[in-house]
Amino acid sequence: MRELPSNPATRLLATYPMERLHDLKNSLRARGITIYDFGTGDPIEPTPAFLREIFIKSVPTVSQYPTIGGMPTLRASIGKYIKKRFGVDLDPEREIIPSSGSKEAIYHLASAFIDPRGARRGVAYLEPCYAVYRLGALFAGAEPIALGLRDDDKFYFRPDLPGRVPKDAGDKIAILWINYPHNPTGAQMDLAGLRRAADWARERGILLACDECYCDVHGGNPAPSMLQAAREGILVFHSLSKRSGMTGYRQGFVAGDPKLIATYRAVRAGIGVAPHEPGQHAAIAAWSDEAHAEERRKVFAAKRDLFLTFFAGAGIRVVASESAILYLWIAVPAGMNSQQYALKLAETGIVISPGTDFGAAGEGFARLALVPDLDGCRKAIETWRKCL
Ligand SMILES: Cc1ncc(COP(=O)(O)O)c(C=O)c1O
Repeated sequence: MRELPSNPATRLLATYPMERLHDLKNSLRARGITIYDFGTGDPIEPTPAFLREIFIKSVPTVSQYPTIGGMPTLRASIGKYIKKRFGVDLDPEREIIPSSGSKEAIYHLASAFIDPRGARRGVAYLEPCYAVYRLGALFAGAEPIALGLRDDDKFYFRPDLPGRVPKDAGDKIAILWINYPHNPTGAQMDLAGLRRAADWARERGILLACDECYCDVHGGNPAPSMLQAAREGILVFHSLSKRSGMTGYRQGFVAGDPKLIATYRAVRAGIGVAPHEPGQHAAIAAWSDEAHAEERRKVFAAKRDLFLTFFAGAGIRVVASESAILYLWIAVPAGMNSQQYALKLAETGIVISPGTDFGAAGEGFARLALVPDLDGCRKAIETWRKCL
C-alpha cells in the first residue's frame, strides 16, 4: 500500500500539555498519592444553578442545526454586555459572532486570514502563552513566530512591542496575538498599553487578535478591552468558560472590525462551529448577569490570598500576576529548571504546570491554576511547606 497522507505539521506536535498532565496524574493516582491539581485551568466550582436550569429547559424536542451567526438574541445580549462592561457600542449583526468557546475560534483564525503561499504569512504571539496560537498557525500553513516575553524588562510580561519584534520578523507578521489578562503569567495591560499595541499593528497592516477570555477573572481591577482602544484591524475573543464556570458549555464570541467579522463568518460557515442552542440560551443568561461572575471572583481571590501569604513567607517569588486570581506565576528556586521543580512537587501530590509548557520563554517559572477548593488549597500549602 502507498504511504498514507500526512500533514508535515503533525511532526511538529509535542504532546499537548493538558494531555501530559493527565498522564502524570494517572500515574500518581496509581501510586496512591493524594493529588492537589493546580495543573489544568478547569475550575471545579459548580456552574451557577440558574444557568444549568436554563440549559436543561432549552433542550429541544427536535434537534436542528444551529445557525452560523447564532441566535439574534444571543448576539444582542453580547452587545449589551460589551456596552455595560466596556462602554463600547457594537452592532450585533455586523460586529459580533458567537463561537464554541474561544479555543476553536482562536485555532481557525489563521486559516481564514493567512495566505500560506504569500510572503507575509507570519503569525506572531508573545511567549510564554496558550499553545493554540501556534497550533492554528502551523496547520494553516502560516509561519509561527514566537516573541519572547521576559520578567526582567520593566513591563514584567507586558511588552514594549516595537522593542520585542526582531527587525527581520516585522515584515513577515500578518497576525499578532496578544492575551491580557495573560495566561500563564496573570499580567495585565492597561488601556494605554493596548492603544500602543493597536497603533503599532495598524501602521503595519497587521491583524491584531486579542484573546480577552480572562477579562472578567480579575482581583478587583477590571481589565480593559482592545475594543476601547480601536476597531479597525482588531478582533477580540471572549469566553464564558472561566467567567461563568461554563468550560463544558463551549460558549464564547468574536467581535471587532466588521470587515474581518464578515470574512470570518463566511469562512466559519464551512467549518460548522456555531454553539448548540441550549448552550446559547444559557449564554444569554450568563452574559446578562454580573452577580454570579462576582461571586466566582471572590472564591478565586480567597484562594489567591492564601497562596500569596504562603509564598511571601516561604520566599517564593510571585512574578507579574497582578490581575491574577485564577493563575499565579512563580519563579522556580535557583538550581532547578521548570520541569525538575514541577516533578519534585508532583512527588508530593502537588501538580503544577512547568513554565515551559507555555513555550521556551517560560523556563525558570511555573504556573499554578487555583483550581482545588479552599480546603484543598490549605492542605496543599501544608504539604508544600514540608518540602521547602
Ligand atoms: C489564554 C486562553 N485562551 C483561550 C482559552 C480557551 O478557552 P475556551 O475555549 O474554554 O473559551 C484558554 C483556555 O484555557 C486560554 O487559557
